[in-house]
Amino acid sequence: MPKLVVVTRDGEEKTVDGDSGLSVMEVIRDSGSDELLALCGGCCSCATCHVHVDPAFADKLPEMSEDENDLLDSSDHRNEYSRLSCQINLDDALDGLRVTIAPEE
Ligand code: FES
Repeated sequence: MPKLVVVTRDGEEKTVDGDSGLSVMEVIRDSGSDELLALCGGCCSCATCHVHVDPAFADKLPEMSEDENDLLDSSDHRNEYSRLSCQINLDDALDGLRVTIAPEE
């Protein structure tokens, strides 16, 4: 079962187990975090699941779609490690992935 390390907006870090196949957004939400609104439920249309990914994992992530890229452009907090967490499926290759929840818009 891959692990996910989640850093909250106030810097608190916790490690959670995620079922393979769930998106990073779903794993964060299931862990009880209320910082990630994920308003669209994962269909890549809200950008409220924005996270910053640890650079060490940058080249293991799936390619960003044009839709994801466009949505991230609407964020004031985009940086080179920004991703929408609903667009990343957690699998064994991403075991230990560390993400920081982006500031609220
Ligand atoms: S949950 Fe809406 S874009 Fe990810």
